Amino acid sequence: MVGVFEYALAIGGIALCVSLTTSRRPNPPGNVSLPPVYGPWYLPYPIRGFLAMAKLGMDEDNFLLSLRRDYGPVVHLPWPLNQIFVLDGTLIHKVYGAPSSTLSFTAIRRKFQTIIFGSPWKISQGPGLARMFPVHAKGLANLRLDAPVERFTRIVQAKVAQLKEQIESLPEQAVEIPITKWVIDTMFEAATIGLFGEEFCERTLKAGLQQDFNRFDASFPLLAAEMIPMALYPLVPPIADGMKGREAMFSVLTQWVEDGLPGLDEGVIHDMAQMGLAEGYTSREIATLLLGDLWALQANAPYAASALLLYIVQSNILDQVREEIDALPKQSEDTSDPVVTLKTLASMPLVASCVQETVRLNTSSFSIRVVEKDFVLSASGEGGIFIPAGMRVVCITRVGHLMDELWGANPESWIGDRFLAEKQGDALSSKRSREMNGFGGGISICEGRHLATAELKSILTIILSNLDITPLKHVADPRIPIGPATANNVWKGLQPSRDLTRPGLGAFQFGASDVIARVTKRKSS
Ligand code: HEM
Ligand SMILES: *[C@@H]1O[C@H](CO)[C@@H](O)[C@H](O)[C@H]1NC(C)=O
Repeated sequence: MVGVFEYALAIGGIALCVSLTTSRRPNPPGNVSLPPVYGPWYLPYPIRGFLAMAKLGMDEDNFLLSLRRDYGPVVHLPWPLNQIFVLDGTLIHKVYGAPSSTLSFTAIRRKFQTIIFGSPWKISQGPGLARMFPVHAKGLANLRLDAPVERFTRIVQAKVAQLKEQIESLPEQAVEIPITKWVIDTMFEAATIGLFGEEFCERTLKAGLQQDFNRFDASFPLLAAEMIPMALYPLVPPIADGMKGREAMFSVLTQWVEDGLPGLDEGVIHDMAQMGLAEGYTSREIATLLLGDLWALQANAPYAASALLLYIVQSNILDQVREEIDALPKQSEDTSDPVVTLKTLASMPLVASCVQETVRLNTSSFSIRVVEKDFVLSASGEGGIFIPAGMRVVCITRVGHLMDELWGANPESWIGDRFLAEKQGDALSSKRSREMNGFGGGISICEGRHLATAELKSILTIILSNLDITPLKHVADPRIPIGPATANNVWKGLQPSRDLTRPGLGAFQFGASDVIARVTKRKSS
């Protein structure tokens, strides 16, 4: 379970011998102070850094919450992390709002393109990417999502229709299925078709690429920790396995690019591939760029969708959610199937609130910045905390999501209308929306957040207009310990257990842990 950190510790241990010199701290000017340093005063900084890393890897929530209780809103975690954690919503927004000449992100994004997604350095560091970044961001903006959402929705409708047929064919008129597996498989197919088109999706299914995706995704935390040099990837078993998964994805992607992107003639993936060709990149080099999108598309949203569905069907607002869904226009007079488009999905404020609440409660995101020049982090403009150039600042959204006062009672519970203006008032609900940072923020904000939100609403709408879902029991994944229930959690429903090996990587995943649910055709209301 702590694979990531065992390896990080081993590698770091070697480096430790080299660098046991105490780091010197700069002198901040005037009335500002340096952030407190994590760990007991009697231990050398690097040991404290390792302690922090190990705790983060084993018990993310408790570690992060204890940081804010023990050190306040900003704390310095020494080398090998060498990061300044920002733990409070107001200060996080100061970081998000800082100009990139002070706090930059591009260098990190470029480095990840090589050390995670395998692009050659000449591409990740070259001028071509600078031309592609803005096109990429625009390609995932709301205005360009009609076609992908239409394709996504069509596939989900077909999958739900299949499940309904299966139910109708059985004497008991019901199936019992691992519900999150069903949601994740459905999302994998529907979202791949949404962005990459049918032909590519068919090829991924034929090649069994979902397993390869999962292998690669499992190595992601280790790769993103930047502790292991690329030359050692083949020697570190979980990474070596991830690289095999990555290679399998490259081969399907490369061939598909080589064949001229059959099945796709518009959209962000199409535009990226075309730009790559214009830059003179090879098909495989273009595949490394598309791999980043395939990963971003599938690493978060399917899990968030599973959590959302399970929350809603076990909540006391299920009927209200269904009222909103039933108010959508129908596809024709003799069907109960709703019209699901970006536009109709935007007309469901309670569902939107449920999505935000799920992303608040079931994500942990770390937005990382390189400190380009010394600056002072301050909530009020006076005093503040001195952040020296050369450090990394990391916005820790999870702590604000659980500890900031604006959430009201029981922040650890799922309360579907927590963001609903009609219930909470306009001022509070927009304040809460601003403080919901599960998609990150500022210059590194999730470019897929509009697509992700539409996907979640779409699959929920189609499932709930056709099916009744009754969660029956939890299924454990032997690799994932069932965490201690948090004391304040008044939400008693079933959820799969959270995989704790992915601190700060977005939506919580849950490996093979699942919930068995009884699925029947919806009783007409
Ligand atoms: C509920 C689902 C999702 C969650 C919780 C999520 C979360 C995140 C987070 C936390 C980041 C990093 C933010 C930061 O560093 O400040 C991110 C980046 C990104 N996400 Fe998402 N994401 C989701 C779905 C998607 C989808 C469906 C796509 C579609 C392709 C996508 C595309 C991206 C891209 C391209 C980036 C990188 C932006 C950059 O490097 O500048 N995401 N996401
Ligand atoms: C969602 O988060 C809650 C609270 O943090 C946790 O109890 C639950 O297991 C999570 N569900 C999933 C699917 O990660």
